[in-house]
Amino acid sequence: MSKYEAEIKRRRTFAIISHPDAGKTTLTEKFLLYGGAIAQAGQVKGKKNTRAATSDWMEIEKQRGISVTSSVMQFQYEGFCINILDTPGHQDFSEDTYRTLMAADSAVMVIDAAKGVEAQTRKLFKVCAMRDIPIFTFINKMDRESRDPFELCEELEHELGLDTYAMNWPIGCGKDFQGVYDRQNRKVIHFTSNTNARAATATEIEPDDPALADLIGQARRDQLVDEIELLDGASCDFDMDRVRHGKLSPVFFGSALTNFGVEPFLEEFLRMTTAPLPRRAGDEIIDSFDDDFSAFVFKIQANMNKAHRDRIAFMRVVSGKFEADKEVYHMQGGKKIRLSRPQQLMAAEREIIEEAYAGDIIGVFDPGIFSIGDTLCAPGKKFKFDPIPTFAPEHFQRIRSIDTMKRKQFLKGVEQIAQEGAIQIFKTPYTGMEEVIVGVVGTLQFDVLEYRLRSEYNVELYKEGLPYEYLRWIVRDDPDAPPLKEEDLLLPNDAKLVEDYKGNQLLLFAAQWSIQWVQDKNKDLKLAEF
Ligand code: G4P
Repeated sequence: MSKYEAEIKRRRTFAIISHPDAGKTTLTEKFLLYGGAIAQAGQVKGKKNTRAATSDWMEIEKQRGISVTSSVMQFQYEGFCINILDTPGHQDFSEDTYRTLMAADSAVMVIDAAKGVEAQTRKLFKVCAMRDIPIFTFINKMDRESRDPFELCEELEHELGLDTYAMNWPIGCGKDFQGVYDRQNRKVIHFTSNTNARAATATEIEPDDPALADLIGQARRDQLVDEIELLDGASCDFDMDRVRHGKLSPVFFGSALTNFGVEPFLEEFLRMTTAPLPRRAGDEIIDSFDDDFSAFVFKIQANMNKAHRDRIAFMRVVSGKFEADKEVYHMQGGKKIRLSRPQQLMAAEREIIEEAYAGDIIGVFDPGIFSIGDTLCAPGKKFKFDPIPTFAPEHFQRIRSIDTMKRKQFLKGVEQIAQEGAIQIFKTPYTGMEEVIVGVVGTLQFDVLEYRLRSEYNVELYKEGLPYEYLRWIVRDDPDAPPLKEEDLLLPNDAKLVEDYKGNQLLLFAAQWSIQWVQDKNKDLKLAEF
C-alpha cells in the first residue's frame, strides 16, 4: 500500500449528533483528550465562553458567547486521523447543521439515558438516514438514574425505525453503575471511578467467574445473567453489512463525564466505521482512492474577520490529495483557481495547511465565487457532485426595509445572504419586490440576518413573524407547466402558496395536520419535504 493510500485509509470523518445537553461536548472532549489534542478536560467547553476574547468571529457570536456555525476538529488516535464534525445545539441550530452532516461518513448519536430520543436527535437522525450512513449510538450518563436499557433500545427502534444491537450492556445505573458487559468478548468490564484520568480504571472478569458476585453483588450478578440471556435470545444478529448501510446501529452504554466506557467505545467505533466513502456525481461514483483531487463545498461562513469582510468556504475532500500550491478546477465557475489560505481546525485552533487527503475538511478563503454544493476537481476532469439538498425551514418572517429608499441595498443584501445559504427567501405572487418572506431552520439566523443587513448594507429591517412551521415543495411532473395559482388548490386558512427565487413553488403550513389535509383534498398534488 502506498503512503497515499495509507493516509486515506486511516481517515475517519464523522459527525456527533444529539439533543442539547445529552453530552456531545463532554464526549468530544474525551475523544480529544485520548488523542492528545487537548491536555485537560474543559478546554473545548471553555472555548465556547472565551472565544470572545480570542478571535474575531462575528460580533453576534461575541455578544452571545456561542458559535453560529458548526466547526470541524481533526486529531490523531492510535494511527487513525479523525475529523469530527460538530453540530451546534438548539440555540444556534441552523441549516448549516444539516449541511455539515453531508460531509460526514458516519454519525455518533449521543442519547441521554434518562431522556431517550429527543426532538433534535430525531431531526438530525433523519438527515443522516437520508444518506444511509452508519450510526453508532452512545447512551450516555449511566452514572445517573437512567431509564431501563431494554426500553431505551426499543425506543430507538420505534421512534427512529433503526434496528439496534447492544454491543455492551450496563450493570446498574446512577451511583450503582458498576460497569458494562462486553457482549462480543463475553467479559464484564468493572469500572472504578476516576474522573480526571484518561479512562476509568477497568477490571475484566468472566461473567461465570465466582469472583463477579463479590465485585458487583450477588443480586446484580444474577440480574446480569438473566439480562444477557434475554438479550441473546431477543435481539437481532449483528450484521456488519447492515451497520455499514445505516440499518443497524451498534449501541454502547457509558458515561462521558466519568469516563466509563468511552475509550472502549471509541476503539470499537473506529474499528467498525468506514474509511472515507465515495460520493455520487450524476452517473459517476467518485472513489476516495482516485488519484485526482476532488471536493465539494458544504458550508460558507461569512465575515469571520470583519476587517476583511472575508468568507470561508468549507469543503470536504472526496478523492485524492489536496496540495496548497496546485491549481484546481471550479466546475460551477468554469475556471482554474488556486485555493488560498487553506486551513484546518485542530481542536478549535485554526492552522494553515499544505496538504489534505480524502476525508479531510478544509476551509479556504472565498472571494465570493463559491456556493453551497460546488464541485472542485483536477483540471481536465468534468463532473459535478450531486447537489446538497435544500432543507425545509421551520421559522418564517416577512421582512422589508424600514426606509423605502433603501430597497435596492435591502434586496442585494438579502439575496447575497440567501446565496451563502444562511437563509432561504420566498415571495408571494401578489407582493412586489420590497417585501420578502424569509425562512430559517434555527431562529438565530433571523438575528444574524438583521445584524448583517445593518452592519454590511446599512439597512434597518421591519420584521413580522409568520405562523408557518412546515414547508413542502410542490413537485411538477411537467417542468414547463404554468405556475399554480392559489385558486387552483384547495387550501386551509393556515396554508400559503409561495415561490422561491428560482421560481419553484411551495406551500407553507402552520400546522402539521394541514399538510395531510391538503394532500387529501388535492389528490394530484405532489409534495416533497427535501
Ligand atoms: P451537549 O454538548 O450535548 O450540549 O452536552 P454537554 O457535554 O455540554 O453536557 C451537558 C451537561 O451534562 C453538562 O453539565 C455535563 O457535565 C453533563 N454530562 C455530560 N456527560 C455526562 C455524564 O456522563 N454523566 C453526567 N452525570 N453528566 C454528564 P452542566 O452542569 O450543564 O455543565 P458543566 O457545568 O458540568 O460543564
